[in-house]
Amino acid sequence: MDGRTVFAAAGGEGFSAAAARFRAGPCSVVLLRDLSAASPAAFLAGSEQAAFGALKIPKRKAEWLGGRLAAKLAGADAFFQGVPLREIEVRRELTGSPFLVCRGERRHVSISHSAGTCGAAAGTDFLGLDIEEVAPRHPGWYRDYFTPAEREGRDEAAMTGLWAAKEALFKALGLGLSCDTLDADLSGPGPVLKGRALARWEELGRPPFALERFDPGPGLQGRLVWGR
Ligand SMILES: CC(C)(COP(=O)(O)OP(=O)(O)OC[C@H]1O[C@@H](n2cnc3c(N)ncnc32)[C@H](O)[C@@H]1OP(=O)(O)O)[C@@H](O)C(=O)NCCC(=O)NCCS
Repeated sequence: MDGRTVFAAAGGEGFSAAAARFRAGPCSVVLLRDLSAASPAAFLAGSEQAAFGALKIPKRKAEWLGGRLAAKLAGADAFFQGVPLREIEVRRELTGSPFLVCRGERRHVSISHSAGTCGAAAGTDFLGLDIEEVAPRHPGWYRDYFTPAEREGRDEAAMTGLWAAKEALFKALGLGLSCDTLDADLSGPGPVLKGRALARWEELGRPPFALERFDPGPGLQGRLVWGR
């Protein structure tokens, strides 16, 4: 997972893109960039076409579409081989947490988008993926969102990676950023949880999990959390 991710031309079912596809533990991961979707109706279910049509802001439209396409491709790799993409529907919980529904089966999926790159992972129930752009941050970002131990000795790229790790973990927990980022201390070899993150992890039966890094491309950090 520490090696460079290779993107290659991909397409069909109404789109073309540069895509990277790889496995991590039980997960199928799909990353997309340079997406061109001439016929989104070819890969979107009817309800998704209506939701896409209701979006107004071009950036949001692009990331929503790329995230959904990546989720369908990851779901097809992990669970639904050979099924037309428009039959793999992406829905969301009230919390915003996404899931796939295909021919009566429901499966978990995780989605992220950043700086023109979209990604998704599917393959197990406890799963979170995050992609973040490395960028200069306000000093308050370091102070408010990380423990002193996490800040120690890490540069901008490493701190962005840590942020992505926290988001991936909170997505796996189904919480997103509704919980305090200080609820997970990732400074050591194993995460230390407290507060809502700990309560939710215990509610889920304390699933053991792996935290892995991947390379989504220049200037980006990627992290994946998956249940063992
Ligand atoms: C989920 C969240 C962490 C994503 O952060 P982000 O870095 O801006 O966005 P990313 O591109 O990495 O991820 C977005 C995807 O996360 C997924 N997501 C949203 N809520 C989620 C949740 N509770 N659990 C798991 N995944 C979630 C969605 O699929 C979303 O993509 P979509 O809207 O296109 O379907 C954040 O948006 C969030 O928690 N929002 C709701 C909580 C809130 O109100 N927080 C206050 C802000 S501090």
